[in-house]
Amino acid sequence: MARKLRSWRSDRLDGHDACLLLEIRLPMKRDLSVPRHLAIVMDGNGRWAKKRYLPRFFGHKAGVDTLVKVINGCADRGIEFLTVFAFSSENWKRPDDEVSGLMGLVLVAVTKYLAKLARDGVRIVIVGDRNAVSDRLRTAWTEAEDVTRHNTRITLSVAFNYGGRWDVVQACRQAVAAGMAAEQITEQSLSSYMAMRHAPDPDLFIRTGGEVRISNFLLWQVAYSELVFTDCLWPDFDVAALDAALAVYAGRERRFGAVTSGAVDPAPG
Ligand code: FPP
Repeated sequence: MARKLRSWRSDRLDGHDACLLLEIRLPMKRDLSVPRHLAIVMDGNGRWAKKRYLPRFFGHKAGVDTLVKVINGCADRGIEFLTVFAFSSENWKRPDDEVSGLMGLVLVAVTKYLAKLARDGVRIVIVGDRNAVSDRLRTAWTEAEDVTRHNTRITLSVAFNYGGRWDVVQACRQAVAAGMAAEQITEQSLSSYMAMRHAPDPDLFIRTGGEVRISNFLLWQVAYSELVFTDCLWPDFDVAALDAALAVYAGRERRFGAVTSGAVDPAPG
């Protein structure tokens, strides 16, 4: 299926190296053509539903099914961290029925998919301000995190009631509350208070749905992420679209502000 990626070079995608000796997998250098951490803004659910004359809720429902497939696609390709924007701090401005529909959908999704995700080796981490959500949702999140705590195949971070600016502010507040002096505040020390402290910064950021903006997602962490925007609506996103985005990423040269050419590992080891 040809997907129009609003992007550029897609001429190179290296294969995975594999080195197996006497059934012992030797430690290898990571394949830098595959992002270690992928962040996705899952946009376009409403338009997907509208095209089918369905209420917007059905777009979000289809979006959950897409997400479950994409999680496994990512894990199969060696991506260690996947972070998705499920509900932004600004999404409270949507009509009440859509907000309550999304909250209910999350509860249904946890019931429907938690056991499968746990079996599939997915560790779930919720990032965002939990104060504003219902007790039921908080309990469901805690259960999802507890049940999957020891999984190592892939870490799925679900950003819910999350905003990048909120994250910077809450990290500063925590640092101050911990008694940190002004001169002790560095990029590294502040990062240790941020909601995404369990993951390296995203290597690749994908936004579906045709809009070309960050929308307050992971503002601190995307400083050097490669950005890929696609017109594909989120419920239509599949492993072919994922592979197309990964091919674009593999063709990018990451310099992190330096001038040398050649792949640089932001988080070696
Ligand atoms: C943006 O599409 C999508 C959202 C605001 C919600 C995304 C949420 C999910 C896919 C459900 C996540 C659930 C779990 C359990 C992680 P939009 O509504 O802005 O679409 P539009 O731009 O076409 O109107």
